[in-house]
Amino acid sequence: MNQLAMHGGTPVRSTPFLSAMDPAGRTLGEAEAAALAEVIASGRLGATGGTQVPAFEREFADYYAVPHAVACTSGTAALHLAVGALDPAPGDEIITTPITDFGTVIPILAHNAVPVFADVDPRTGLLDPAAVAALVTERTKAIIAVHLAGAPAPIAELAEIARKHDLMLIEDCAQAYLTELPDGRLAGTAGHVGCFSLQQYKHITCGDGGMAITSDQELATRMRLFADKGWPRHTGERTHLSLGMNYRMTELQAAVARVQLGKLAGVVASRRENARRLADALTGLPGVHPPTGIDRHAVWLFPVVLDPAIAGGTNAEWAGALEAEGIPVSAGYLSRPVYGYPVLAERNLYGGSGFPLTSPPASRDRHYPDGLCPNAEELIRRTLLVVHWNEAYTESDVDDIAAAFRKVHAALTATVGTPSGV
Ligand SMILES: Cc1ncc(COP(=O)(O)O)c(C=O)c1O
Repeated sequence: MNQLAMHGGTPVRSTPFLSAMDPAGRTLGEAEAAALAEVIASGRLGATGGTQVPAFEREFADYYAVPHAVACTSGTAALHLAVGALDPAPGDEIITTPITDFGTVIPILAHNAVPVFADVDPRTGLLDPAAVAALVTERTKAIIAVHLAGAPAPIAELAEIARKHDLMLIEDCAQAYLTELPDGRLAGTAGHVGCFSLQQYKHITCGDGGMAITSDQELATRMRLFADKGWPRHTGERTHLSLGMNYRMTELQAAVARVQLGKLAGVVASRRENARRLADALTGLPGVHPPTGIDRHAVWLFPVVLDPAIAGGTNAEWAGALEAEGIPVSAGYLSRPVYGYPVLAERNLYGGSGFPLTSPPASRDRHYPDGLCPNAEELIRRTLLVVHWNEAYTESDVDDIAAAFRKVHAALTATVGTPSGV
């Protein structure tokens, strides 16, 4: 019973957990199918001249109580709308976090700006405002904060840095639907632009899709132009005012996304309720730190930070043991900080030129050595463990996860000679 499954014991769990790749692990149903059928019957699948995309934009803006929402094709595209609206010059700098999806970084590089990575809080993996402040230079134009796993990044502190240095603050909310900031505002509404993803694994989905929200009319206009080739269609003139992409969401995506938006509150509520149950069960397990403030968390993932010396092992050792027990976890969330990916570390950029990291246009030749952000590296290599999460989990699923944590804790701490339950 107590022998770990990886050592031949009986696993805590023998049936798989639902994931976003299972029909029952998604909230897609007949209403989405009917909405799709309606679009097909209309004969208008593209956004230009359609009704679904403008309706989705209006409904999303209302949901977040902001005046403007611009739909696009992905979370990466939504971030690119924000960067495109900012329009940095080649070599300008944008500060962001090394623990995120690469979609946070692509728009910076695509716009020929230089990503600058600030270290994170070792207990949360969220940007450390002091580290951000120390990296601001005369070339800095923006900060992209990521609400990692659905936890609120320290937006008030970052907004103060942005205000002081006249920077744009972009909130990456791809993992953070309905995340609440300490002042009660929703993540995505406190910076200049909030960016969301509707990709398959997100809280709500239309396969792929994105949304950028803002309270700034000028930014909204620029983002709308950027999403549509710089073409001011409302004027009726075929002309192109500024650089843009074709990031138009289709009517098919919007039709599905509108129905999904109606389910968002239930999805987040269910994720929170189950997360509270697991956090309660893990609280007091020595060396194991579940997330706090779950009432404000979107729980895209359930992140646990380990103290390996007390918990009996590193994140990789814990992940191996928990996976053998049938629990869906990953060590570190990423295999390395984003600056360690070959695209940046080996400068696989623009024909091998290294542009825009080279000097000029950058103010200096930018390299991203190992050790650049020690807290982020420690989280990824040793301390951060993420439990994959889903709104369809039952109490019994959560109890299995908790039982596996207790079992692994007892076994690993016994190995290092630390009595469990201390
Ligand atoms: C934090 C974060 N930023 C950006 C993205 C990019 O979103 P998408 O995959 O929709 O382009 C994702 C999603 O994968 C994400 O999790």
